Amino acid sequence: MVLKDFFMGMSQNQFLNNAAKKYGLKMGAQSVVAGTNIDEMIQSVKELNIHGISATIDNLGEFVLEEEEAIKAKNQILEVIEAIHANEVDAHISLKPTQLGLDIDYEFCKQNLKEIVSKASEYAIFINFDMEDYGHLKPSFTLIDELSTEFDNIGTVIQAYFYESVKNIEKYKDYRLRIVKGAYKEPETVAYQDKKDIDQNFLKLIEYHLLSGKFTSIATHDHHIINHVKQFVEENNIPLDKFEFQMLYGFRKEMQLELAKEGYNFCTYVPFGDDWYGYYMRRLAERPQNIKLVVKQVFNK
Ligand code: FDA
Repeated sequence: MVLKDFFMGMSQNQFLNNAAKKYGLKMGAQSVVAGTNIDEMIQSVKELNIHGISATIDNLGEFVLEEEEAIKAKNQILEVIEAIHANEVDAHISLKPTQLGLDIDYEFCKQNLKEIVSKASEYAIFINFDMEDYGHLKPSFTLIDELSTEFDNIGTVIQAYFYESVKNIEKYKDYRLRIVKGAYKEPETVAYQDKKDIDQNFLKLIEYHLLSGKFTSIATHDHHIINHVKQFVEENNIPLDKFEFQMLYGFRKEMQLELAKEGYNFCTYVPFGDDWYGYYMRRLAERPQNIKLVVKQVFNK
């Protein structure tokens, strides 16, 4: 718990975040971040595609407070969309509303997102709105509601640790949804704290959406959850093309390949770019054992 809190605290340290951007990929992040530029990222996606694995690409960045930075992020994501199309790779986009200016101005953020969703829809590329911390939950859903009146290539994430996720999954049952446990530190006024409660809610939400018939992305590295889902889809005759498993780039690589080989749809979340710091610290918080990766990288120079 102490290490978890330590890394969660580090993930929000703006000074270290800026320093990390300046000095490139370090501290072991290379193993979980697919490069700092589009060429390196596309190469990683092609390698995944060879193994029958699709990708959801995250141009890393979050909690942006400068308009210029949000516009830069928007332009980079538009370039990624062009690169997906030009390279004909099996991939779509994951993005975070705070990277596109949600903390600056709602309408400014919406306009940035609209440009992205509109460009992607020209190429039939799906855009997933990642869900961030509780403070951004409501405006993120409102953005989805408003953009969905014009576009149908949008989906989002339901985080099982929030009490209100049961209500949200009902409201968004007609969307393609990724279901996760939840990655941010949240108070007990809004979120379950106990792993048992989170896991129980996670399974409930997954089962609900699988039975609703809309496409479900089950995003977890937890083999207990994965084994439960395998059994559930078989018992309930859920077709293979109605769901996929997702894991993060660089995690449980053998299991990723194995699930794809077994015939399940598999999609790897591929983060890339120089704004890797917050993402990487949250991964260390989830699994402090990953600190081993850091030590190895630092001493293998
Ligand atoms: P968890 O960390 O609870 O681990 C459960 C068990 O699984 C462990 O005890 C261990 O046995 C096993 N295990 C886990 N990792 C392992 C490893 N690397 N090697 C071996 N065993 C391992 N969150 C969010 O808030 N918003 C979002 O938009 C997203 N998006 C997202 C996309 C994708 C593709 C993924 C995989 C995850 C997210 N998340 C997220 C993060 C998510 O909410 C969650 O924090 C992490 O996935 C960690 O939870 P897990 O379900 O993976 O298992």
